[in-house]
Amino acid sequence: MSQKVYWGIIGLGKIAHKFAADLQYSEVAVLHAVASRSIEKATDFAKTYQVSKAYHSYEDLVNDPKIDVVYIATPHTLHFENSMLCLQHHKSVLCEKPLGINSTQVQTIIQEARVRKLFLMEAIWTRFMPAIEKMISLLDAKAIGDIISVQADFGFQSEFNTESRLYNKKLGGGSLLDIGLYPIFLSLLVLGIPSDVKAMARMTKTDVDSFCAMLFDYENNAKAILTSTLEANTPTEAYLYGTKGSIKLHRRFHQPSTITVSQNGKETIYELPFSGNGYIHEIEEVNSCILHKQHESTKLPLHLSEKLMAIIERVKSKIGLQYE
Ligand SMILES: NC(=O)c1ccc[n+]([C@@H]2O[C@H](COP(=O)([O-])OP(=O)(O)OC[C@H]3O[C@@H](n4cnc5c(N)ncnc54)[C@H](OP(=O)(O)O)[C@@H]3O)[C@@H](O)[C@H]2O)c1
Repeated sequence: MSQKVYWGIIGLGKIAHKFAADLQYSEVAVLHAVASRSIEKATDFAKTYQVSKAYHSYEDLVNDPKIDVVYIATPHTLHFENSMLCLQHHKSVLCEKPLGINSTQVQTIIQEARVRKLFLMEAIWTRFMPAIEKMISLLDAKAIGDIISVQADFGFQSEFNTESRLYNKKLGGGSLLDIGLYPIFLSLLVLGIPSDVKAMARMTKTDVDSFCAMLFDYENNAKAILTSTLEANTPTEAYLYGTKGSIKLHRRFHQPSTITVSQNGKETIYELPFSGNGYIHEIEEVNSCILHKQHESTKLPLHLSEKLMAIIERVKSKIGLQYE
């Protein structure tokens, strides 16, 4: 492999545009090809971001021998088949969250990547934000002692529309998979796997959750109170309370640029802005792993994706959320 990493993108919707813009900040990444169900869309996208190849089908893209890694930016329910397609054509994968819509899908994708010795990562960009790196180093240094509770919410108002990806069950709609995943990821990162999960939700006419409230208990008696909603613009902040102080991840906590640490009545504010649209940090992690022939990221290892989905499955079963 050259010292460049050649990228492809499949599914040219909203997030693909933001991601492609950030790929241009990387000195290592080359956005070589894009694929859409519409050739006009692929051609326009390719012109906007100076991409060499525009494909009319995802299959054509995975057959391009130049591509090292494919970014999958399709709706949730397609992540499984799209990831498997890429891996089975010897392409490494960065797949948008959630990696699959259930644990079986997530485990099958991970197994496929492991057997084929290919790089795979779920695109949880939050993990690579400078402010989250700072949070992790503060927690490692026990700056706020031991965590006793976590509170995090993620909510925005989205008009109900049966066709929208957010409400369409066939596309994996609902707040839990789309944004509830972020507070759960934060709780997993700082507290691990809960011993008990309680949850309740409000379901839409399309039978997905528009609101989900979660309460997690841990063996060490720590607690997490988490919510996600498509019904209202909520603060979208996170608070970690410890035995010696607290950390606030300012709005929007999944892509924070400010954190406040409170200890002994004193506040320290850290301003740690992300670059570009915020995706460049995960992009550089993928580039580095691929150039160093690592099959998974040490910062976001695949066991975290397995654990994340296992917790989501427990919430799904509490709120009666099922996908085909
Ligand atoms: N990390 C983040 O910050 C972030 C933010 C937003 C979304 N996401 C994730 O990114 C994924 C895509 O979200 P998005 O907001 O970009 O969605 P979107 O705007 O609807 O784009 C999804 C794209 O998937 C392709 N697609 C293939 N089959 C489809 C089908 N049956 N119905 C609809 N689209 C289909 C389409 O591209 P073509 O027509 O070009 O094939 C479509 O443009 C989701 O899984 C979401 O969780 C992540």
